[in-house]
Amino acid sequence: MPPPYLTLDDVRPLYAGSDGAHGLDHVLRVTRLAVRIARAEAADVEVVRVAAWLHDVAEERDDHHLAAARVARDLLARARAPSAFIEAVAHSIEAHRFSHPPEPRTLEAQCLSDADKLDAIGAVGVARAFLFAGVHGNRMWTHPLDTLADLIGPDPRAYRRAHAGQQDYTPSHELLCKLAGLAQTMYTATARSLAQERHAFMMAFFRRLDEEALGER
Ligand code: ADP
Ligand code: NI
Repeated sequence: MPPPYLTLDDVRPLYAGSDGAHGLDHVLRVTRLAVRIARAEAADVEVVRVAAWLHDVAEERDDHHLAAARVARDLLARARAPSAFIEAVAHSIEAHRFSHPPEPRTLEAQCLSDADKLDAIGAVGVARAFLFAGVHGNRMWTHPLDTLADLIGPDPRAYRRAHAGQQDYTPSHELLCKLAGLAQTMYTATARSLAQERHAFMMAFFRRLDEEALGER
């Protein structure tokens, strides 16, 4: 096993100013999942752990995968980690966003990408979407899912790009535009099986929310 080039005490202060949906809590949940997936898939656990710790370290949200990879390279070089370890971590961070290139080309990068997507679905995914809506002053609910699906139309990603900043874009919109598709995008068998259960729970929650909001339950 390699020496620990980084410890949790080094990582904690890096997330001091982060928002509720990202930040240290998200990073620690993703790290637990990523390490679990890495063990089950026989990936390099130390690469996955350090990549998960550092994957959201960046000031800017827009290109945070590239900025975080730069921070990781810098920190690990100062800790005298071997260049193969640094590159493996940096690639995993660069490739962790499903909507942005590059594609994860290593098993370690796939473990991190899967863990980050798992943290956006299930009960945690529901909680994060409502936390995000609260922080941004968005509405809680506007329409049932079948009406929303018609409203969103055939290109949910284009709809999300055009509307995600607006007050009427609710967690149900986020479900249909992004979250409901994530379970289909897992790279590893371990994450696919965790995702199925999280997906079913999340869909049941939003269907129930419709029923309650309509006064049917
Ligand atoms: P990423 O970190 O992959 O770039 P985002 O920053 O888009 O992802 O989203 C982070 C989390 O916040 C996700 O769980 C996502 O579902 C949630 N989220 C993002 N935008 C919204 C929104 N407009 N309404 C509700 N939840 C959102
Ligand atoms: Ni993340």
